Amino acid sequence: MKQLPSYRILENLSKQAKDRHLASLFGDDTNRFEEFNVKLPGLILDYSKQNLTAEDRQSLLNLAEEAKLTEWIEKLFTGEKINHTEGRAAGHTFLRDLADPKAEVSEQWAKMEELVERVHTKQLRGYSGKAITDVVNIGVGGSDLGPLMVTHALKGVRSPLAPELHFVSTLDGKQLQRLLKNLSAETTLFIIASKSFTTIDTLSLAKTAREWVESFSPTQAGTMQHFIGVSTNAPMMQEWGLLPEHQLLFWEWVGGRFSLWSTIGLTIALQQGMQGFKAFLQGAHEIDVHFRTTPFKDNVAVMLGLISVWNINFLNLAGQAILPYDSRLKYLASYLEQLVMESNGKHVSRSGEMIDYRTCPILWGEVGPNAQHAFYQLMHQGTERVMSDFILYAEASGKSERHTFHHHLNIANCLAQSRALMVGKTDDDPNKDYPGGQVSNTLLFDKLDAKHLGMMIALYEHSVFVQSVIWDINPFDQWGVELGKKIALEIFQKIEAKDTEGLDSSTQGILQSIWKTQNE
Ligand code: F6P
Repeated sequence: MKQLPSYRILENLSKQAKDRHLASLFGDDTNRFEEFNVKLPGLILDYSKQNLTAEDRQSLLNLAEEAKLTEWIEKLFTGEKINHTEGRAAGHTFLRDLADPKAEVSEQWAKMEELVERVHTKQLRGYSGKAITDVVNIGVGGSDLGPLMVTHALKGVRSPLAPELHFVSTLDGKQLQRLLKNLSAETTLFIIASKSFTTIDTLSLAKTAREWVESFSPTQAGTMQHFIGVSTNAPMMQEWGLLPEHQLLFWEWVGGRFSLWSTIGLTIALQQGMQGFKAFLQGAHEIDVHFRTTPFKDNVAVMLGLISVWNINFLNLAGQAILPYDSRLKYLASYLEQLVMESNGKHVSRSGEMIDYRTCPILWGEVGPNAQHAFYQLMHQGTERVMSDFILYAEASGKSERHTFHHHLNIANCLAQSRALMVGKTDDDPNKDYPGGQVSNTLLFDKLDAKHLGMMIALYEHSVFVQSVIWDINPFDQWGVELGKKIALEIFQKIEAKDTEGLDSSTQGILQSIWKTQNE
């Protein structure tokens, strides 16, 4: 990035940006919103509350050209193996192209549709012949967060035939144990969702679930009625004993954190029906087309990405808050934590060299009205400069007077916070002084439904990709998570053997304390 001609220009421009107050940009230009927003059918990105002038923006657009963003977008969409450290393409966009599906994808959609149909029409029955009422998704990371986030968001518009959905991910087992207390084995179906089908978190929970079903089911055949696998690893699903018609496949070219668009989205299809799932894919596809074909300045995903680069690399902001003003998006921040930080939390370039500039921000978030009473204090008066994404919906979730009342209150709070963060307030008492100048985007969508949710997720995915291109990093691998898994296995073996030799003194001390407590 630093060798690109526009980098130096942006560095110089950023000196002026650091000297000006964000609010002054509005004072100088009463039409600022018109100049700094991008509109698409169904959504608006308002980035007028960024500390950015038209000249800054032009240099960012130049930086994107110099980084050959257009060529990289083509590589993404034509299936080049741009995940070079794993020798794979990043093909999530293929899954959303319903007009031109790959043959192997169509085959799995058909199989998934059949399973959804069998659950909805109560043909899929458990060991005792009773129909399935509850479905538990066992998976972690990309095999959990996307479906969890989407099905929570769309719960209010579920198919009347949809079963109750539950998600378990944590290998401590407590989530599952609590859940099992309230479920009946006769009517519960488990989805073992794992791209690799080797993740210890998921496999250990699946084994516990299986033992639970076995403790009620009279036969092995009956037990296996209660399990569906979703994976790229057919041999491992077979070895686990899953029925062939209960095995859904996806492919190495679908990254784990992009897999909600694949058969990993089974829970979404169970909740929304296959048609609803396809509307979700269609929303994402519309953004794909927009991203691939629209000039950078009018391209929502490109602008989102470039704004982040401006903030992170030129204005030195290291934090990004995700603030949906809608409790239906309770799990959005968790989902984006993986999408953004597992993708761009990298410190070597594509050619394997250490890089000497910031990459991924620390992203966190919370439903806006709750966050106001939690961490907004830091954003208003702390010492950290943070960029925020406010997410808002124009349409209320219901039509009653009370719905309208709450909706208006919610909109007012969202707009109040982005304004307060921007303008601040001077006061003689330093405790009551707000510096302001905190930058934000506002993403306004018409409504929250499957299609608009698909659009939003695809926008964030592509924004992450844009940033990775500017930073010259591979956003599609995640080698950084391997070391912890390896050490966990080593320590697990030590714990089972009650032996601490060779471990560091901190680990030894904690284990000794645990054993002491356990023996008391
Ligand atoms: O934590 C690393 C990771 O590989 C994620 O990228 C992935 O989403 C998650 O583990 C789960 O992996 P799998 O779907 O293979 O069980």
